[in-house]
Amino acid sequence: MGNCFGSQVKSLSPTTTRSLSPGPTSKTSISTSTTTGKLSSISSATFGQSIGSSVSLGEASPEGRILEVPNLRIFTFAELKGATRNFKPDTVLGEGGFGRVYKGWVDEKTLNPAKSGMGMVVAVKKLNPESMQGLEEWQSEVNFLGRLSHPNLVKLLGYCWEDKELLLVYEFLIKGSLENHLFRRGAAYEPLSWSLRLKIAIGAARGLAFLHTSDKKVIYRDFKASNILLDSNYNPKLSDFGLAKHGPTGGDSHVTTRVMGTYGYAAPEYVATGHLYVKSDVYGFGVVLLEMLSGQRALDTNRPSGQHNLVDWAKPYLADRRKLARLMDPRLEGQYPSKGAFQAAQLTLKCLGGEPKSRPSMKEVLETLEQIEAMKGRSRESKSKDGSHQHATPNNGQIPSKPRSPLKSRHDGVEYGMRANHHTHRVS
Ligand SMILES: Nc1ncnc2c1ncn2[C@@H]1O[C@H](COP(=O)(O)OP(=O)(O)OP(=O)(O)O)[C@@H](O)[C@H]1O
Ligand SMILES: [Mg+2]
Repeated sequence: MGNCFGSQVKSLSPTTTRSLSPGPTSKTSISTSTTTGKLSSISSATFGQSIGSSVSLGEASPEGRILEVPNLRIFTFAELKGATRNFKPDTVLGEGGFGRVYKGWVDEKTLNPAKSGMGMVVAVKKLNPESMQGLEEWQSEVNFLGRLSHPNLVKLLGYCWEDKELLLVYEFLIKGSLENHLFRRGAAYEPLSWSLRLKIAIGAARGLAFLHTSDKKVIYRDFKASNILLDSNYNPKLSDFGLAKHGPTGGDSHVTTRVMGTYGYAAPEYVATGHLYVKSDVYGFGVVLLEMLSGQRALDTNRPSGQHNLVDWAKPYLADRRKLARLMDPRLEGQYPSKGAFQAAQLTLKCLGGEPKSRPSMKEVLETLEQIEAMKGRSRESKSKDGSHQHATPNNGQIPSKPRSPLKSRHDGVEYGMRANHHTHRVS
């Protein structure tokens, strides 16, 4: 029997503590921090209203809005099996910490399963039924994303909860994740131009700014390149609200939580204390900006020791214009305005400030990025006359640039010497 949240209040024991699994981009829970909060539950209490059973596919308003009633379609497991051709391996779009994401086909109006190639494409995220580790995140996704509507947030269309099967159904974003475009090689991943990088940064900043300025401030907590998905025009949309939290209220500066997130992106104060600020998201944004400038991953154990953490080794390159040219992604082939790049680097440094208070708000970040975009027409490319570029590859350019597996990337962890499925090391 499927569960219908319209009438059901589901609450969880708040006693789970997750342990840290160190490694590149792994989601974490720091072992020393066991602070637990009441888990949010998918309930009429959370929403104030019950979940609707039909879904509107209308465009999100440009400013975004918070829906009174989550407008989600409840799918049966059989329907999603039908939509994905029985979760056929060749429909797999990717794999994250909580399971695989499949491509599915549904009727545009009714959202009933359609034959493959017919109707509308959707992305179906199927949580690994072996563990219940994803339940909390799954609930959070429904609670937050089910109600949030903004052009720069992925649209959650519906879900299925049947026995141990937990699934989420999203709009399909044809270009996949920013992570793939920045770091994968192959015909499907043309290097992103400077203006596309700016466009993506601006859209993602809009999405975060919307969350931060909404009535009940929402802290996203998992800002990273793999959670920025791209539509056919490279419009970015934030996905994965599994770790999202309501921000502080009543004059408090932060909320205290178990430390969850992803190595390399999480803000230092949060990792150290579990104190989560709205500005903790700004730090994560700074890390992604740095990834976009440099073409380097936030964390990569393939880099020489001492350079695994991008922020640690790249920061000095951001403050100096000449040094910056050596940090910039060689895949840009020098095709960027040096003034704009330097301004973006300065903004990145501000976002990466050690103290939350010292970081700009996402509104300020957005304004700065828009200014950089506006001046792009006036700037000259920074390419030198002979077209050559020096690049600050760590250890004299010895970054291994082996091709990555098209399906697994970092999730198998193999290329980083990590355990398989390191995202899932969330110990209850
Ligand atoms: N709505 C979607 N449209 C198209 N592709 C998607 C969609 N959602 C996810 N994907 C693909 O599936 C991959 C896995 O997504 P998922 O969110 O499960 O994991 P992740 O973000 O890579 O890692 P993590 O578990 O740490 O969040 C993404 O990187 C993306 O390539
Ligand atoms: Mg994700």
